[in-house]
Amino acid sequence: MTDREKARPLFLHSAAQVVTLAGPNRPRVGRELEELGLIENGAVLIEGELIAAVGPTEALEAALPGDVERWDARGLVVLPGFVDAHTHLVFAGDRVQEFEWRTRGLSYEEIARRGGGIRMTVRRTRAASEDELLAIARRRLQWFLEHGTTMVEVKSGYGLSREEELKILRVIRRLHREGPAEIIPTLLAAHVVPEEYAANRSAYIRMIVEELLPEVAREGLAEYHDVFCDVGAFTVEEARLLMEAARAHGLKLRLHAEQLTRSGAARLAAEFRVRTADHLEKIADEDIAALAEAGVMAVLLPGACFHLGRCDYPPARKLIEAGVPVVLATDFNPGTSPTPSMPMILALACAQMRMTPAEAIAAATINAAYSLDRGHQVGSLEVGKRADLVLFEASDYRQIPYFFGTNMVRAVFVRGRLVYERKAEAT
Ligand code: NIG
Ligand code: FE
Repeated sequence: MTDREKARPLFLHSAAQVVTLAGPNRPRVGRELEELGLIENGAVLIEGELIAAVGPTEALEAALPGDVERWDARGLVVLPGFVDAHTHLVFAGDRVQEFEWRTRGLSYEEIARRGGGIRMTVRRTRAASEDELLAIARRRLQWFLEHGTTMVEVKSGYGLSREEELKILRVIRRLHREGPAEIIPTLLAAHVVPEEYAANRSAYIRMIVEELLPEVAREGLAEYHDVFCDVGAFTVEEARLLMEAARAHGLKLRLHAEQLTRSGAARLAAEFRVRTADHLEKIADEDIAALAEAGVMAVLLPGACFHLGRCDYPPARKLIEAGVPVVLATDFNPGTSPTPSMPMILALACAQMRMTPAEAIAAATINAAYSLDRGHQVGSLEVGKRADLVLFEASDYRQIPYFFGTNMVRAVFVRGRLVYERKAEAT
């Protein structure tokens, strides 16, 4: 039995707003994205690890079980924990040098051609031991929690050999086991072709298909498979081969598509009916229709556009209008988006992609949860769901994307247990 199961029920009450996101048991599309199920002066009753009741404070107060622990949420907004459905959390070092070069005018692609970029992080990550990587990743995961994220998808992709990719996946598994956040592992061995295979790309792909994938599947080290399908990474044909193999091993599919160029990856995503097509900065209108038709979810990553200083944010409005279920994520990685902050991502989505605050919140919670096949457990505050929730120092949920660059998180609960709290300032 966990501590929470033994503890008294927890009654969070008098919140300025509880954003429940109650609704249908599927990803939200079109206008549904704005239906937040808002409760003013709201309350949440938590029993064990689960939500036992949600509603107006007086209504819940009237039907409380005998002995409850109370938490006064006056002046706070309660949200389901953010679900970050696209991160590259496990890597060593940083790329501040390249960041500075970009301020001086060098492009991301140019830096990669000169041996920087992903390959630079691969060298550093290979040089780190499994324990060292775990310590680095643990510290970063704490940043995510402190910004209100309670579930994180984490990709490998900075190992690029059988052993090194397995090392990263083992770090991801250990992170998950440590908790408190649930971590969903994704194999991204097809991030770029490593230096030692530069002259023989097909041998690298063969290694993934014949050696790495079978082992990952056997050990249950990844739930999803991803490919960076773009110029400088993998072609559509190479991605197709890899995705067929991954699917045959029972892995579900995600795909980095149309980030730097219109490569045809969105079409491929539709053809394979992948769970998510991620990025889509360069997606064409016809391809949006194909994604909608195929039921593919779009994971939008405005942090990468912001940090690279490019203005081609993905066409969120067109995707929403076409009925594609959209998700927002950080893309946390050392090259294009070194932010763990979902509130910052919401701010970018509103200010740069014209998503409304309500749409952005739905994309970062319930839709993100569905994109990881966890929509039945988390992503909204409804009876029977896991009590993963965040209290913000705000009186209106729209303040969360509005006060960009601030962290308004007061407290974070995972499975009904307080895992982070910032003390209120003395008055
Ligand atoms: O999602 N696009 C590919 N991968 C990352 C960048 C990784 C890196 O530069 O280290 C991304 O943007
Ligand atoms: Fe990415």
